[in-house]
Amino acid sequence: MDLRKRSLIVAAASILSLAAWMFGRAEQAPNAPNPARKLVLVIHGGEGDLPEKVSPEVEKQHKAVLEQALRRGYARLKEGKKGASLDAVEAAIRVLEDSPLFNAGKGAVFTHEGRNELDASIMEGKDKKAGAVAGVSIVKNPISAARAVMERSPHVLLVGRGAELFAIKHKLDIVHPDYFWTQERWDELQEALKKEAKPSPPASKERGGADAVEPRKRHFGTVGAVALDGEGNLAAGTSTGGMTNKWSGRVGDSPIIGAGTYADNEACAVSCTGWGEYFIRFAVAHDICARVKYARRSVKDAADTVVNGELQRAGAEGGAIVLGPNGDFHVVYNRLAGQMSRGFITSEDALPHVAILDKPLPKND
Ligand code: GLY
Repeated sequence: MDLRKRSLIVAAASILSLAAWMFGRAEQAPNAPNPARKLVLVIHGGEGDLPEKVSPEVEKQHKAVLEQALRRGYARLKEGKKGASLDAVEAAIRVLEDSPLFNAGKGAVFTHEGRNELDASIMEGKDKKAGAVAGVSIVKNPISAARAVMERSPHVLLVGRGAELFAIKHKLDIVHPDYFWTQERWDELQEALKKEAKPSPPASKERGGADAVEPRKRHFGTVGAVALDGEGNLAAGTSTGGMTNKWSGRVGDSPIIGAGTYADNEACAVSCTGWGEYFIRFAVAHDICARVKYARRSVKDAADTVVNGELQRAGAEGGAIVLGPNGDFHVVYNRLAGQMSRGFITSEDALPHVAILDKPLPKND
């Protein structure tokens, strides 16, 4: 080979390796460390939970609970004990569960039979330990029961009576099933039952096959939280009453690890809200993390691709909060959902930032 040819080959190889290096950096850049953001807590109060417009008073009430959840969770992050990200997720979700305003805990929606069957899960990103409960009717804070399953049982998911007996044995707060009765949720069920009695168009029956009630009226709200602590550990949790007028025994995505909740320190922490049947079928929380981990996408890109892409094309309303190990986070809900209650707090200013409906978050969203 003459000298000219060899020089050309060497030059071409150098250009190719430079391009490969730059391409790799460009893909990695979105997940680069962010030293200013050591502690992060992001929460959601569910998608589609509110009417399109609410009074200033209702807006104030919702925001006050979201802010309280952020403050309560952030205090646990600041304490910095071992497992602080789990503490923060649990503390924030307990505040949302104790409020009648959100579809979880006290504000849970009713089943077709007029009962409340609650689901929740929690996961940590270091060792990928997880716990969940489904179909519980006497556990005041299902998220704490989920954490107890993770830490005090050899299992990941306990359901129904077994989960309740476990909660009693471990001295969690137990309430009479009537504790979960609220007028607003009861009225929602009555409205759904009336609609169900009317013949429905075949198209709505084909979409997911859950029942004949118009999807927007079924109430798919959940609450959830994702957190990053000072040790660099991620955690995620989700809690819900499920969907209004669900069949007894129906389990949604919220207590399913990989569907409604997922955490992996090498990728992200995710909590989802939306039409659970689709979130289970599309393994949404894990899918988002897999895109971050294996395709090296940013948390924003991965979440948008799943929630605004595949899910929306399938006809599923929904949203997610996603947090990476570098402190980058993203909040997304699709056009079919139209709105989501949400908020965050970070060590950058240690102040809660919240928004409801489709109003923008003050910053960083
Ligand atoms: N995403 C809540 C549920 O479908 O149960």
